[in-house]
Amino acid sequence: MKILITAGPTREPIDPVRFLSNRSSGRMGYAMAKAFARLDHRVLLISGPTSLEVPDHVDFIPVETAADMLHAVSRYLTGVDVAIFCAAVADYSPVEVAAQKIKKNEDTLTITLKKNPDILGSARTTLGFNGYLVGFAAETEHLEQHARAKLERKGCDMIIANDVSQSGIGFDAAENEVLIVEPEENTALPRDSKEHLAHHLAALITERAERKRKLDS
Ligand code: PMT
Repeated sequence: MKILITAGPTREPIDPVRFLSNRSSGRMGYAMAKAFARLDHRVLLISGPTSLEVPDHVDFIPVETAADMLHAVSRYLTGVDVAIFCAAVADYSPVEVAAQKIKKNEDTLTITLKKNPDILGSARTTLGFNGYLVGFAAETEHLEQHARAKLERKGCDMIIANDVSQSGIGFDAAENEVLIVEPEENTALPRDSKEHLAHHLAALITERAERKRKLDS
């Protein structure tokens, strides 16, 4: 199958040397890309800036901002069987990007932000994607409730939810602990390395996507 995965943070420029971003290291998304490639799927990884090496046998498109990521996803989503949105896309970006480095003349500085496009939220609607759609959910409370709301609102087949308020898992950690939320069931996976979890998730998503493909044909 053809698999598209987004990973890493996005960076939203403020001026030529500063940006808004978050703590995503890209590890979870890169581990997913590697796990799908090992299952002999054709994998395209669209990633914001990270310090990770691109896994073998994975096609790679580097991006910087949420707008760049949306552009790349829009371009390559056609013909994809499974799309997995693991990136921590910045929800807002500065309305104006200063052409020159902002001087620290004032004691306070106000930057007006505008909402970024919801890339996962566009998949079923404006991008017309009808393959198997997987979102992630980074939550700090009511994990199952918020993840299920995202599943329904964004038309996903599966949401992989992690509680990012817990130390040692989620953002910039070697391990994760996830709750898989599907329309009919929830499955909690115990804390494990992102690599082990990715292998489990890749096998499960492959099985679910093949089942959906048979039902749709
Ligand atoms: O990169 P690591 O350090 O390994 O950390 C992994 C992780 C914590 C980043 C990952 O496991 C994770 O939870 N990724 C999703 C982070 C996130 O932005 O969650 P969210 O609940 O804010 O967004 C929900 C979903 O919408 C996600 O699939 C996200 O990719 C997508 N989204 C969000 C905003 C936006 N503008 N466009 C999107 O596509």
